[in-house]
Formats: sequence, structure tokens, C-alpha cells
Amino acid sequence: MITVPWYSLVIFAGVGFTTYFIFASFLYGAGYQPAPPRVVRRMLQLGRVGPGDEVFDLGAGTGGLLFQAVEVLGARGTGVEVEPIRYLYLLYRRRRSPARERIRILRKDLFTVDLTNATVVLAFLWPGAMRRLKEKLKRELRPGTRVVSYYHRIAGWKTVEEDASLRVFVYGIPPLEEPEGPPRRPGPIGLAPGAVPGVNPVPGEGIAVGVGKPAPR
Ligand SMILES: C[S@@+](CC[C@H](N)C(=O)[O-])C[C@H]1O[C@@H](n2cnc3c(N)ncnc32)[C@H](O)[C@@H]1O
Repeated sequence: MITVPWYSLVIFAGVGFTTYFIFASFLYGAGYQPAPPRVVRRMLQLGRVGPGDEVFDLGAGTGGLLFQAVEVLGARGTGVEVEPIRYLYLLYRRRRSPARERIRILRKDLFTVDLTNATVVLAFLWPGAMRRLKEKLKRELRPGTRVVSYYHRIAGWKTVEEDASLRVFVYGIPPLEEPEGPPRRPGPIGLAPGAVPGVNPVPGEGIAVGVGKPAPR
């Protein structure tokens, strides 16, 4: 009979659990990876989160962003998480939080959550999910809402503010749409055909104009 050392079972179980924990939600829109603390602070700062805000963290993970927004900055927060273990952990954190009255945890697919009340939407998702999310954000968010994405840009939208080195991108609602693409005409001698000097600005440079709190209902 083949004997298996006990520790190989522990290793097997550990690897299995870690793989599940990180990748199980992959098919929904993103696996698990917490935003680093520096990024969390920057996202909330550039999103101008404060008391009176209704923050939605789409894919709340273990709550790093959500709990800081509520406990430290005084916002109200909704964390949406599809994966059951992280959802239970979020409930546990909520229960222990002194700000629990201002925290709502939903176990839902983020694409089915009503976002019409949001004043700030936070997202750290994978590119496919950001592409899917774009139309929903445009449809449901009120003018003045800020959308803060970590790592991935929203294709076709111009940022109103960004921290390029930390890859934090802020968008306003209504979104500033990028032009479809540069005009197609032959470039001057020395430039590649189709290249138009000065036409493609660096996305997101400069400070927001007209982005503040959403209009009261
Ligand atoms: C990269 S993590 C980000 C966690 C957290 N927001 C942070 O920044 O620390 C993405 C999270 O989104 C969750 N997620 C992925 N797709 C989702 C969906 N369709 N609905 C709800 N949650 C989803 C994953 O389970 C994962 O916990």
C-alpha cells in the first residue's frame, strides 16, 4: 500500500483552497487580489470620498476599500461580492465595525446591482468586466458621480483625474468620451501615415472640471 505523508495532504488542501480563493470568481469578472494600502488611500482621495457619499465597491473582496471609506472617511458603503467565503468575511467585518449602521453587504453579481444611489463607484476588476460595466455605469449613474478604477482604464472614456504611477483612474459622470480614433489622413513627411501630431492628448491629464457631488434628487 502507498502511504502518503500527512503534510502532503495539508499542502494539497492549502494549494486547493488558495487556488479556489483567488480564482473562483474569475468567471464572474475578476479573481481576488486586494488593492495595496497605498492604492486604497489614493483611490479614496482622488474619488473625494467623504461623509454624505454613497460608495459602492463592486467586487469588495475582503473589504479593504469599503471599510476605509466608511470607517475612516465617514461615507455610507455598499460592498458587493459574489464569492461566498469573502462575502461571509465581509459580514463578519461589518458585525465588528463601529460603523456597521452605514455598511451594507450584498452577495450578488455586481452586474445585477442597482447603482442609481451611488455617488462614488469603486472597482478593481479585470478588463473584460470593466468593458461590460461601462454601459451599466452610463445608464444608471447620476450626473456628478465619480467612478474610480484601479489598474484598468475604462476604454473610450477620458479620465478627469488620475495617478498614472499607481494606476488609479477617475472618471466623471456623464463620461468624457474619447473620440473614435485619430482622423485617417496621410501624415506629413517623416511621420507614419495616419499619425497626427498634437491630436492625441495624454488621457486624463489635468484636473476635473464639473465633477463634484451628484445633484440632489
Ligand atoms: C481584484 S478583487 C478586488 C477586491 C477589493 N475591491 C480591493 O480592491 O481590495 C475583485 C473582487 O471582485 C469579486 N468579483 C468578481 N466578479 C464579481 C461579480 N460579477 N460580482 C461581484 N463580485 C465579483 C471577486 O470575487 C473579488 O473578490
